[in-house]
Amino acid sequence: MVLVSGSGTNLQALIDASTSPDYGVEIVAVGSDRPGILALERAEKHGVETFVLETSSYADRASWDIDLAAKVEGFDPDLVVLAGFMKLAGPAFLALFGGRTLNTHPALSPSFPGMHGPRDALAYGVKITGATLFVVDEGVDTGPIVAQVAVPVLDDDDEDTLHERIKASERAMLVEWVGKLARENFHIDDRAVRLGGAPT
Ligand code: GRF
Repeated sequence: MVLVSGSGTNLQALIDASTSPDYGVEIVAVGSDRPGILALERAEKHGVETFVLETSSYADRASWDIDLAAKVEGFDPDLVVLAGFMKLAGPAFLALFGGRTLNTHPALSPSFPGMHGPRDALAYGVKITGATLFVVDEGVDTGPIVAQVAVPVLDDDDEDTLHERIKASERAMLVEWVGKLARENFHIDDRAVRLGGAPT
């Protein structure tokens, strides 16, 4: 199950990988908080079921969160991947999918959490940034880290060129690790994400 809000290049990378049976991942549905986005077109083109739940259709964020959790539960996913999903997972969602929801952030956590990772990295003047795949918790980009990839910041970068460079590495990391986690299972030991089921 993949949740999206934007152009869906991360989703596309997962779709492409999932066409190989060896990858061991089936995308059961794609959900969004916005209609009319390219990510939904990508899913539909691939024949994956889609849905849209807009926060503006709800009286408050809590009701949206409850409906999102119920909608996702209907697909009975093993893993939920937030691939450029620009909303925070709420308590109802985390009650059902905490510990098996992954998110990708275009910065090297714990630096530059939030909506503008590439912009904030540029503004700070770091020479290396990157992307972080993590298990979602109630914070903003704070969950246990699955994998990270480093990406150089070039002198003539603007926010778009830097974000595009990050996204190329981010997609490869996402595909590699979603496959590994799905095929080998994983557990979380304190903040360490380890492949394999929990030790008995
Ligand atoms: C990614 O960089 C993701 O980390 C960030 O937004 C971007 C989504 O890109 N939150 P796309 O929609 O997968 O192309």
